[in-house]
Amino acid sequence: MSFFKYDEILKIENEDFNNQHLILMRSINGIFKYISHNESEETIKNAFENFISKFFLHMLNEERILTNKDNLLQEKHREDHKKFMDQMTEYLKSFEKDEHVSYSIMLNFINNWFTNHITTFDRYI
Ligand SMILES: [Fe+2]
Ligand SMILES: [Fe+2]
Repeated sequence: MSFFKYDEILKIENEDFNNQHLILMRSINGIFKYISHNESEETIKNAFENFISKFFLHMLNEERILTNKDNLLQEKHREDHKKFMDQMTEYLKSFEKDEHVSYSIMLNFINNWFTNHITTFDRYI
């Protein structure tokens, strides 16, 4: 489990989306900070919910642009957003049911997904 490090490879041509990605990465690092400082489950859950709301808006912003371009890549892009949101919903349910959530698995999943998603899909927006 580590901080999300912003790398040049994550820079895409759309500056608005670059800024939104940076905000999301800061939000992920905020969760990481709370976890490493042993903050309460409630604090971590709130930070996680906040991240999901930000991500959801970002996803809608991207998909609004994608609707103009109808091809397989755009379809796969949408599917990848959905896959991520489905996984985030699962984590949220676990938080709500007070089930154990492995933070390192969760953050590794988020970090890996982001890097992979931006380099595979967002860069072709
Ligand atoms: Fe995307
Ligand atoms: Fe994105």
